[in-house]
Amino acid sequence: MSSSQPNSDSNSSPSRSGAFAAAVDKRVEKFTESISFDRRMFQQDIRGSIAHARMLADQGILTSDEAAQIASTLTDIGDEISAGTFELKEELEDIHMNIEQTLIDRLGDVGRKLHTGRSRNDQCSTDARLWVREAIDRIDGLLADLQKSFLSRCDRDADVILPAYTHLQRAQPVLAPHYWLAYIEKFQRDRDRLIDCRRRVNLCSLGTAALAGTTLKIDRENTAKQLGFEGLVANSLDSSSDRDYLLETVFCLSTIAIHLSGWAEEWILWSTVEFDFIDLPHAFCTGSSIMPQKINPDVLELTRGKTARVVGSLQTLLMLTKGLPLAYNRDLQEDKPPLFDAVDTVEACLQVAAPLVAGAELKRASISARLHRGFLDATTLMEYLIKRGTPQRSAHHLIGALVKLATEKSVTLSDLALEEFQSFDSSLDDSVYDVLGVEKAVQAFQSVGSTAPAQVASQVEAWKSRLA
Ligand code: ARG
Repeated sequence: MSSSQPNSDSNSSPSRSGAFAAAVDKRVEKFTESISFDRRMFQQDIRGSIAHARMLADQGILTSDEAAQIASTLTDIGDEISAGTFELKEELEDIHMNIEQTLIDRLGDVGRKLHTGRSRNDQCSTDARLWVREAIDRIDGLLADLQKSFLSRCDRDADVILPAYTHLQRAQPVLAPHYWLAYIEKFQRDRDRLIDCRRRVNLCSLGTAALAGTTLKIDRENTAKQLGFEGLVANSLDSSSDRDYLLETVFCLSTIAIHLSGWAEEWILWSTVEFDFIDLPHAFCTGSSIMPQKINPDVLELTRGKTARVVGSLQTLLMLTKGLPLAYNRDLQEDKPPLFDAVDTVEACLQVAAPLVAGAELKRASISARLHRGFLDATTLMEYLIKRGTPQRSAHHLIGALVKLATEKSVTLSDLALEEFQSFDSSLDDSVYDVLGVEKAVQAFQSVGSTAPAQVASQVEAWKSRLA
């Protein structure tokens, strides 16, 4: 291609204009580069640039032949980067300038026209928005897979009753699917949050240029439409500085990580000899180099541990964006490493969580052997008294005294004789035994959203059609 200027020299960065009297110091080059991490956005950068060039041609700012040359050369560059045959240079700072400089090297003046009506500020943000939009969609799919794993357990474990805890003390009995539905709900909220966040991610900043817009007659709607954005970032000054879409995304990732961490902790406890509730799939466990008997829940521990990284990334982004005056500041280049790490970490955790959930087995015999311990039916018995007219506070006190008696005698509530019940409340009769024992207690639940078998069954059915 013809060129009216030298393509490059030792001071060749496209961002170093004729105003510079010296080439950049090598140490500064190293210090300021972002190519080592923003190379991950090369596909987004190329898509954004092709859309920009086509818009410029539609507006008569480039000829359609120029736009076609740019698009096809950018496509080649993308293929070469994918194939690993493209040399990405630190001295060109970032992915945007690496691609643009090669375009200039190959097309000369035509290549020099690509950056018309655009700045790296809107370009960076557009690339990141495209990248995040894809990441959100992948993570949404992984969350759906995890929900399906929990849902697949509901029929399998329909007949299992588990103790549920508050303060990690035995509280009330619930059906095992009630546990699984609880996690399905948490991960649905995570999905809903991501989808809501995606609406603000999915706005096009391209064309806001450096910060004030451009005097050229560009068409922002055109570019936004080509790139599948739902709308435009309204204010160019805001656009240049805005990283809220990253803060929100990484916050959403943090709640996912925290939900995973709570679940991981629960199943680590459940897999101990002390609980003995669950067998983890051995393909998802690791051994000890010295203790031959050990089958360790390292996947769950790392899931819990990696939460620290995700929440750390959120903290990094919050601190990064604190106290920045309008508009773009170079600090913002530091946004990518925490973003990428948070996305990678959550994806990795979700990829192992779904098969682990599906592959675990509840230890039914061990669970039921100790289910009578901890007075899981005490609240049900209290509500039985309330239904017979005893005020709640009086019933609460009375059942507490019965629990004390049963504890002293090392028996369950259902082991107490009718005379013992009657010594606390002379109006009690045999029907007291109808609500005692864990199975009867579970059956007694009524309220919407409770562990009542009919409630659980209808929620399971609803989730089956929702996740189908
Ligand atoms: N490498 C930079 C980044 O990722 C590019 C943006 C540069 N913009 C500027 N005004 N210097 O943020």
